[in-house]
Amino acid sequence: MALSDDLRAIQEQVGKRLRAARTLAELDQVRVGSLGKKGSLTAIMRSMGSVPKEERPAMGRLANTVRANVERAIAMRKEELSQEALAAKIAAEEVDVTLPGRRLSLGTQHLISQIREEIEDIFCDLGYTVEDGPYVETAYYNFTALNAPEDHPSRSAKDTFYVADNAPEGKGVSVLGESDVLLRTQTSGVQVHVMEEKEPPIYMICPGTVFRPDTADANHLPQFTQVEGLVVDKGITFGDLKGTLDHFCREIFGKDRATRYRPHFFPFTEPSCEVDVSCGVCGGAGCRFCKGTGWLEILGCGMVDPNVFTYVGIDPETYTGFAFGIGVERVAALRYDLPDLRMLMTGDMRFLRQF
Ligand code: DAH
Repeated sequence: MALSDDLRAIQEQVGKRLRAARTLAELDQVRVGSLGKKGSLTAIMRSMGSVPKEERPAMGRLANTVRANVERAIAMRKEELSQEALAAKIAAEEVDVTLPGRRLSLGTQHLISQIREEIEDIFCDLGYTVEDGPYVETAYYNFTALNAPEDHPSRSAKDTFYVADNAPEGKGVSVLGESDVLLRTQTSGVQVHVMEEKEPPIYMICPGTVFRPDTADANHLPQFTQVEGLVVDKGITFGDLKGTLDHFCREIFGKDRATRYRPHFFPFTEPSCEVDVSCGVCGGAGCRFCKGTGWLEILGCGMVDPNVFTYVGIDPETYTGFAFGIGVERVAALRYDLPDLRMLMTGDMRFLRQF
């Protein structure tokens, strides 16, 4: 009986092809090839009408059995392949919890920010407030109210970045006094703002960025950081200034460092000094770092000039005060023996990670 042979052959062939199928897609091809619209089994079912009537029931049963077998075989193989696929997926996604983790590199504060905050802490512990001021200033706050004469060289465009806005048509800003608006060259102007706004007693510092038209080299940066300090109260003396700044130097550089106060000139203080600390490299004996002097200059200071008080309406007969200006990059350079200030600006992680 040819048809029954065909049915058995199909069952056998499907079984073989199922064993050969490696993926669910291949399995589906087997299903379509046998049970699909144009499948081999479907074709036989369709031809059942041409089977002689008396053979039809037996042939029909056989055909149904074969179809049921094929369907079951496909379902079983499908289950097997799904399990295999799942196992493969799990294996591929397996996490080896014993592998060493990837190290996260933690960021830190920039050295300048660290020192700036350290200075803030020292003065906050003494009861000072931390003030802020604008980067873009007028000549009044940066110079005039700080008692700098109209012809003071620091006002020239060689030493100050002027903002061109106020310059007369076509003239640029290179000539003294053409523009009134500038990038502050010092944080000292914040003293004026604070004294205008607050009544004494004033105990304040102002850390901040300042700008000067200097070419960057080992000792200069066109943009750097200062911490301004100002005290205004009744009965403030040079002794208070010295006690405060000696305390600051010891906190920043260590208890064993000596200080010395050298007379100097600043327009806004009288008398004025520059303060040196004893060299940490040679202990004061003299070496290359301190250029043989045993001392390193670290800040400028002085007693507030009565003229400055007059500009802001504080009575110099009632109040006295002192002021100081610290270069933060300079403190960094002295504390860590940095040979070149530009190292602080380049963002080289090999350098910055040391702090
Ligand atoms: N403003 C000065 C500078 O940039 C630093 C300074 C010196 C500030 C003496 C002061 C001071 O308040 O009293 O060089």
